[in-house]
Amino acid sequence: MRVLITGAGGQVGHALVDAFGRDELIACDHHALDVADRAAVLAAVTSTRPDTVVHTAAWTAVDACESDPDRAFAVNALGTRHVAEAARRVGAHVVYLSTDYVFDGTKATPYLEWDAPNPQSVYGASKLAGERELDPGSTIVRIAWVCGRHGSNMVKTILGLAAKHETLRFVDDQRGNPTFAEDLAPLVRRLVAERYTGTFHVTNQGATTWFDFARDVLRAAGSDPGRVLPIATHELEPARPAPRPANSVLDNAALRLEGLPLLPDHHESLARLVHELADPT
Ligand SMILES: NC(=O)c1ccc[n+]([C@@H]2O[C@H](COP(=O)([O-])OP(=O)(O)OC[C@H]3O[C@@H](n4cnc5c(N)ncnc54)[C@H](OP(=O)(O)O)[C@@H]3O)[C@@H](O)[C@H]2O)c1
Repeated sequence: MRVLITGAGGQVGHALVDAFGRDELIACDHHALDVADRAAVLAAVTSTRPDTVVHTAAWTAVDACESDPDRAFAVNALGTRHVAEAARRVGAHVVYLSTDYVFDGTKATPYLEWDAPNPQSVYGASKLAGERELDPGSTIVRIAWVCGRHGSNMVKTILGLAAKHETLRFVDDQRGNPTFAEDLAPLVRRLVAERYTGTFHVTNQGATTWFDFARDVLRAAGSDPGRVLPIATHELEPARPAPRPANSVLDNAALRLEGLPLLPDHHESLARLVHELADPT
């Protein structure tokens, strides 16, 4: 198995690099491969001839995407077109990392893989456009609220804020599922190795709100969760440019119905991550 990973320097990319064996990996970070550069993508893939391309590279700055849609689509949509074209040339399977933000958040129950997307943000629209660039027989792995050891994420943000402020405020009207990169990566490896195709929602189990998640982070760090206060999205100051879905809970139905393992409950993985961040040795 030879696997080329785009965006290998990102949160998910790092965890994937750890999950795959060194001898099976062609890890390309942004510096090594700009997916918006068609010639570079074609050269990288045709010169290495991987069996699979795991395409994680994306412009993930959700709010910044609102003011620069061209950049969002150049990287997230056209970049994925380039990956699909290059993979086609060498007969490689593409596994594309996508997002809960393809949904509008108005559904009252968790989203299934077969629910109609309706993104509300430029980022969500550009990631859905990427999904639509893929050939049949590709794999889409939709994830949400990614946290992990590498890169910046909400667990680190919450711990940083808690170190500086006595009281923290987080919204209690956005529901979703955290996805821990270190839990996700081995499952992606399995989807790659067994050549599963189609769309999979892959998150840790258990829905939460940012308010409850922040309380859980403090509790896991041995601090008082009562320091976190709930606010509504419309009370955020300054208001965030990109709308977020109120409900982006992803039912991992395809995994469940295939009899594939689900990722652990997010509380378990959160406790592990907080412990690792406190004691990196
Ligand atoms: N983070 C989340 O909560 C979340 C939620 C749902 C889905 N996802 C999806 O999951 C995937 C991985 O996300 P992540 O959390 O690992 O994000 P990340 O940490 O921001 O990683 C994305 C990587 O892509 C790189 N990149 C940006 N533009 C690029 C380009 N033109 N060519 C090549 N590489 C480029 C970035 O490099 P630079 O930093 O150097 O620009 C970064 O290393 C993405 O496809 C994302 O859309 C993420």
